[in-house]
Amino acid sequence: MTIRVKSYAKINWALDVLFKREDGYHELRTIYQTVSLHDNLIMSKTDSAIEIICDDARVPCDETNLVYKAAVKLRQATGVESGARIEIEKRIPVAAGMGGGSSNAAATLLGLEKLWQVSIDESQRFDIAASLGSDVPLFFMGGTLLGIGRGEEVYPLEEVECASLLLVNPVIHVSTATAYSSLRRLTREASPRKIPFTFFAAKGIRELPLVARNDFEEVVLVTHPEIAEVKERLQRLGAKLALMSGSGSTVFAVFDNLKTSERAQLEMRAFGYWAELARTVGRKEYQSSIFE
Ligand code: C5P
Repeated sequence: MTIRVKSYAKINWALDVLFKREDGYHELRTIYQTVSLHDNLIMSKTDSAIEIICDDARVPCDETNLVYKAAVKLRQATGVESGARIEIEKRIPVAAGMGGGSSNAAATLLGLEKLWQVSIDESQRFDIAASLGSDVPLFFMGGTLLGIGRGEEVYPLEEVECASLLLVNPVIHVSTATAYSSLRRLTREASPRKIPFTFFAAKGIRELPLVARNDFEEVVLVTHPEIAEVKERLQRLGAKLALMSGSGSTVFAVFDNLKTSERAQLEMRAFGYWAELARTVGRKEYQSSIFE
């Protein structure tokens, strides 16, 4: 038996880092959005070994890979003795703020439950996911989501739809841990700012440029001027909104229509950037297409 799982990427429509918590993590208020760009995971059973194969040499295929860790944790939780061979077709840029590794981990848990014919209850699945990374659980739900806590606690929001997104990456990596530790000014005390969620619910994409923001931009655009350059170029090419996703290095842009986003894609590629067109993937489509 072979199981194929789509492992979608996410962007953050908004991301507020409120304060540093006693456990060392930062308290977040974020709005996640799953998008059409996705990796593919192809899984088959082995006697006992867990093997990872990936077509992108930058992805480690050892025990440090979140896919490996997810498989081990699921095996421990269920007592399964079988192993798995998991092939990752990598399309989501690595360490790029789009949750690629986290999404792969969530897809692994869902896929291996089918492959090994085991099931764990939702809260156990959530606990394993949250222990693997703060933005793993969002990939069980998909769509437009409010993320709180350290980002692991997610709630569905009214969907924001956009058919003409452009994702651009200057092919540099940003360390999430370093980005957080650079946020000194913000983490001294609780931020009084609040994402106006009513905007997302009532007005959706039309009002997004007014409320979209990312606290990481303030530090990461300074330490990585290549990302600031991507943002400026996207704005010059007519993007209604251009915002860094997560702790970077990807910038996503919202265009009025497909024609302008396609033109911008060509221009950005000519500058040597990785640039892919995408659209939002709502919760219903997300959940029904993972195993397509
Ligand atoms: O949870 P995850 O493993 O993805 O986080 C990677 C690192 O990012 C953490 O070790 C921590 O330093 C930082 N982080 C944080 N606050 C969060 C999420 C992540 O400080 N809410």
